[in-house]
Amino acid sequence: MCGITGYIGTRKAYPIVINGLRRLEYRGYDSAGVMVFDGSKMNLIKTKGKVSDLELIANKDPQKKEGNIAIGHTRWATHGVPNDVNSHPHFSQSGDLVIVHNGIIENYDTIKKELVSRGYKFHSDTDTEVLVNLIEEVKKQNNCKLGKAVQLALNQVTGAYAIAVFDRTKPNEIIVARLGSPIAIGVGKNNEEFFIASDASPFIEFTKDAIYLEDEEMAIIKLGRDIRVRKIHDDTIVNASTQELQLSLEQIEKGGYDHFMIKEIHEQPKAITDTYRGRMLADQGIIRMAGVDDNIEKFLNAERIIIVACGTSWHAGLVGEYLLEDMARIPVEVEYASEFRYRNPIITPKDIVIAISQSGETADTLAAIKLAKSKGAFVFGICNVVGSSIARETMAGAYTHAGPEIGVASTKAFTTQITVLTLISLKLAKAKGTLSNSAFHMYLQKMQLIPAKVKKLLQIDEKVKEIAKVYKDAKNCLYLGRGFNFPVALEGALKLKEISYIHAEGYPAAEMKHGPIALIDENMPIFVIATNKGHYEKVVSNIQEIKSRSGKIIAIVTEGDVTVKEIADHVIEIPETEEALTPLLTTIPFQLLSYHIAVMLGKNVDQPRNLAKSVTVE
Ligand code: M6R
Repeated sequence: MCGITGYIGTRKAYPIVINGLRRLEYRGYDSAGVMVFDGSKMNLIKTKGKVSDLELIANKDPQKKEGNIAIGHTRWATHGVPNDVNSHPHFSQSGDLVIVHNGIIENYDTIKKELVSRGYKFHSDTDTEVLVNLIEEVKKQNNCKLGKAVQLALNQVTGAYAIAVFDRTKPNEIIVARLGSPIAIGVGKNNEEFFIASDASPFIEFTKDAIYLEDEEMAIIKLGRDIRVRKIHDDTIVNASTQELQLSLEQIEKGGYDHFMIKEIHEQPKAITDTYRGRMLADQGIIRMAGVDDNIEKFLNAERIIIVACGTSWHAGLVGEYLLEDMARIPVEVEYASEFRYRNPIITPKDIVIAISQSGETADTLAAIKLAKSKGAFVFGICNVVGSSIARETMAGAYTHAGPEIGVASTKAFTTQITVLTLISLKLAKAKGTLSNSAFHMYLQKMQLIPAKVKKLLQIDEKVKEIAKVYKDAKNCLYLGRGFNFPVALEGALKLKEISYIHAEGYPAAEMKHGPIALIDENMPIFVIATNKGHYEKVVSNIQEIKSRSGKIIAIVTEGDVTVKEIADHVIEIPETEEALTPLLTTIPFQLLSYHIAVMLGKNVDQPRNLAKSVTVE
């Protein structure tokens, strides 16, 4: 939940690291810091606040920015409140070692007590300062090189980490290591320079060659030499291969939009197309998906599918439940990964576990996968980030191909995850014969039209802005939907909560009568999905019930709707499609609405308070 980056080479290191931190800010943004080594001194600049605050401070003292080696950090606090002192990097007691860390050292307190008894003094409340001092102590005790000291120290800690450590007395190397938190190394020409980062985005304009460390691996990055990777726990040498990065600079920039979130909302027609491109051959009536094709017997014989995920990905999983059960007639359970991993669930080798994650780094989802594997289940992943931990940990899977999602609020990840789940459901339905041939073909044809429909729907932006103006000062909101659109109601409420800080709840429309209806008065906006094929009459009755209690209705209806238009205060029309495909459309107005409300309220849309894009701690 923090971003780390570093550079060692012949260029000026500060601009590379600061630019890298800006790109990694999605991972955490409550404090930031950088250490620049000028050849003799390690200059430290760090502060509570964002990378832009760090830059303001650094600009006051340009001398501190000079040097060809730097490590930097953007933080999402775990141990110790966000303040200047707790910000990374952290020095060791002697001032020789410096560290940046993403993760949590769980046994830091015990280690700290031991170090204190040996005379160490601590300035911050962080587990990271404990780790760097442990490395220093181990180095001293064993009279060994930095790499060995890092390795021995890491063998004493429990928890999760991605770290970069530098020793000013050996200024031609940086040691990195990972367990549970990602780290990528960019390799420059002839090993004359190296880049370090939590993901490859900080260095794509410098090199396309990257090495991704696996869990329990560490690397000694030394100028002029090939990177040496070894296992942390047993010293085995690892033959780490260099991968060619597919990422482009354009993909990670705002491209003229004010925020990443709105850019990503508008990217959905393309993202959905990219998700089914090469997989759904509508004219031939074929769905190809290697991860499913190669394991088709397992899918067809599965007694149950368990979907594990968190947040928005969990909502996509719920849509998946409706799709898989309706089309392929396989029983599905959808679990919060964080609950699943700790509640001693019943999992058998006849279960298939589908893990969904945009980032592929969510700690709880990763732990749920490991648990399911240990019980013999076949685990399939749906991830966006190529090469991410979840993508590697699962036994087969499908990428969503949505492109980088940088806004903390998930948008295109949601619709592309649903696209993958729709393809899987249709594919299994065809293989099992639970959907007629004609229905299968009809779905493929309609699916193919979805990107154009999303594009058309995005033109309602101005109308949504008008609605946003009316309700932006609401204190509470309800979101209602039924069937396939119940998860969309949950997702709509989550989007509003996380970026505008307005309290919102999603419910199945019919549940209103069992409690939430008591909340309704003339101040309560209620967003209702009332598509024409989805229990329409029932939802209309639910709307009537709200109206007679003076609630304000904002309804998402199908083009040409007449009935709801007469009752609702505002309506937003979506293009006609099959009910099972409507979540790909109904979610769009909710994304736009949250975005505009948050902008109108002056909130930081891409970096909402207290949040981070990937939650790599439990
Ligand atoms: O990367 P993941 O899909 O595993 O992330 C899961 C959640 O943390 C994520 O969906 C979160 O809820 C988003 N901020 C929602 O917009």
